[in-house]
Amino acid sequence: MTDHTTVHAPRISVIGTGYLGATHAAAMAEMGFDVVGVDTDPAKVEALSHGDVPFFEPGLPELLQRHVETGRLRFTTDLADAVAVSDVHFICVGTPQQTTSFAANLSYVEEATRSVAAALTHDGLIVGKSTVPVGTAARLRSLIVPALPEQVHAELVWNPEFLREGKAVDDTLHPDRIVFGGASAEAEALLRAVYALPIAAGTPVVACDLPTAELVKVSANAFLATKISFINAISEICEAADADVEQIAEALGYDARIGRQFLNAGLGFGGGCLPKDIRALMHRSAELGAFSAASLLQQVDEINMGQRQRVIDTTLDALGGSVLNRRIAVLGAAFKPHTDDVRDSPALNVAAALHLRGAQVVVYDPEAGTTAKRVYPTLGYAEDVETAVRGTDAVLVLTEWPEFAEADPAALARLTRGAQVIDGRNCLPAEEWEEAGWTVSRLGHARFSAPQPERVLRSVGTASRGRLLVDA
Ligand code: UDX
Repeated sequence: MTDHTTVHAPRISVIGTGYLGATHAAAMAEMGFDVVGVDTDPAKVEALSHGDVPFFEPGLPELLQRHVETGRLRFTTDLADAVAVSDVHFICVGTPQQTTSFAANLSYVEEATRSVAAALTHDGLIVGKSTVPVGTAARLRSLIVPALPEQVHAELVWNPEFLREGKAVDDTLHPDRIVFGGASAEAEALLRAVYALPIAAGTPVVACDLPTAELVKVSANAFLATKISFINAISEICEAADADVEQIAEALGYDARIGRQFLNAGLGFGGGCLPKDIRALMHRSAELGAFSAASLLQQVDEINMGQRQRVIDTTLDALGGSVLNRRIAVLGAAFKPHTDDVRDSPALNVAAALHLRGAQVVVYDPEAGTTAKRVYPTLGYAEDVETAVRGTDAVLVLTEWPEFAEADPAALARLTRGAQVIDGRNCLPAEEWEEAGWTVSRLGHARFSAPQPERVLRSVGTASRGRLLVDA
């Protein structure tokens, strides 16, 4: 790579304007840079150009509008134009799970990277941010070589993103750490200039090689997923042994080595990242012959998917073994609160499964009603909690929106036929609800019925070695 040191501040292009790209572009503008966001979807570009965010992300519309107005941030479908006026090019396109396997679909990343390389009019730094299987970046490096115009040099580095939906703006402006993978001294200096503000505020930088940077990201997500499945496995023991998983999580959390976060037992993880990322890592680990990692991740996935079945089983138990023609309110459709994202939403999966068994299901979510309706148009939808709950035999709380925990249980109980609530996220003040006349079922608590022996066998079986020999 030739000299990146520009007399002006580095100008930035961001390729892909989904959650990651739109937030990154707005955050870069907030940090003082001129930014062009690129997307192939003209409708998305049009919306973002007017400062409209096509998804729910707290704080993002304000940030975006501010910088669209200052002129520091613009959006285009013209990748060549964006690349020509920029020095640093962030690749932020999606890496969804393939439809026919657990592997990640890398076609968007490959296409975006190759297109940026081919469109370069002067030397540039290509920075991958998308979550990719280890080994991808090295392959992309060889892909860009034939695409580069003559006399133009480019370096490709990896700089993974760790933003959470619902907290994306804050996570991008104030990251916990910044990882630079495979950067030469020159590229690292340029990246340090781009991230000067968070670095000055004390954010640690980890400079490492390409595969390490790729693996940091998926390892972080795999660890979070494992932590959730761990507490959910413990919650299964709690139910059988009459113990309380929430108190266990609290006591564990006081140990600084463990920490309290991501120890909320319940319906388990969903969303656009954790499930697909652990599956892609499982697939890649097996490809690389790292079978212990693959088997651990498979168990994490199985425990997580099993939580959905446990909530379905609890609902069946609560309603005497059948949900046929019973009216059920599902409170929550998003995969977690403070988002309208329903990708791999455990809440909607459970709602659809109960519907399939003949229940009349009415879903209410403060933000995700519209997105949910698109995916599951055959479910019923309500505009508020009261309407959803009216005349129901059971209420399921499946996303922990504060609105549900803050609801008046006595008023809601009067609207129902059965005052049965299944708290799939352990988020309700259970005692208050019980005092108001509700029968409350929670995962990981004694009230829950103990599993049958065959369920014990099934749930401890590891996929790689078949069932463990457990004396149940
Ligand atoms: C995740 C990572 O947190 C983020 O760092 C990465 O960049 C992208 O993937 P996100 O998908 O936004 O972010 O969701 P996250 O907040 O991690 O929650 C994932 C799922 O785990 C949600 O369905 C949530 O309800 C569930 N969860 C979380 C639990 O079931 N229990 C917990 O204790 C915590």
